[in-house]
Amino acid sequence: MHSKKFSYENQELEITWDMKRCIHAKECVHGLPNVFDIKRKPWIDPDNESDSEKIIETIEKCPTGALQYHFKNKDNPETPPSSNKLIIDEDGPLYVHGNIVLQDTNGNEVLKETRLAFCRCGKSSNKPLCDNSHIGAEFKSGTSYNPERLELEPQENVGGELLIKLVENAAFVVEGNYELIGGDQQTKTCKRMSFCRCGASENKPFCDGSHRQIEFKTNE
Ligand code: SF4
Ligand code: FES
Repeated sequence: MHSKKFSYENQELEITWDMKRCIHAKECVHGLPNVFDIKRKPWIDPDNESDSEKIIETIEKCPTGALQYHFKNKDNPETPPSSNKLIIDEDGPLYVHGNIVLQDTNGNEVLKETRLAFCRCGKSSNKPLCDNSHIGAEFKSGTSYNPERLELEPQENVGGELLIKLVENAAFVVEGNYELIGGDQQTKTCKRMSFCRCGASENKPFCDGSHRQIEFKTNE
């Protein structure tokens, strides 16, 4: 996983932007164009908005976690949302929003985050995260899924820690309580599932073992 971070400050907040994670040109520039303006240098200017809450609200909509913030004078990290959500993007990544703990293929904790976009096409140079390679790869994948593959259990809540384990040369396994959101508002609550990250599964977004046929190699 690569990172190239830039920092921007006003009196109250420090904002960081990780250009290696930024794939998306909507929520920030459309949400608060006085602060986020790609035609300006620097493109982020927090002094242009006096209400820090508005800046925070916009940053928390950044679906990849490229944008982060912290208060300079208090220890107040972003609070994880009360529910975990996995959102399937058509022909694109799997967006995860929640109380995320990411483990590498050796079981080491590598990230604790609230927002990440996972590569589904297998072509990202920044695996396991999306870097927009799905566009050049002409990756095709709808957003609906086969619920019969899921171990469905009635759940009282969809919050708590969401553990994501990367598997060498194969899928990533999501463990915890979460909603899986597909097209046409298809939503199921789930506990544990393996998601394809090689791009070859016939049963996307789930892993069906096709990574072996295509000899998918990745061990981050
Ligand atoms: S919302 Fe996040 S991913 Fe999208 S353009 Fe802004 S910084 Fe990049
Ligand atoms: S990771 Fe793609 S089929 Fe298993």
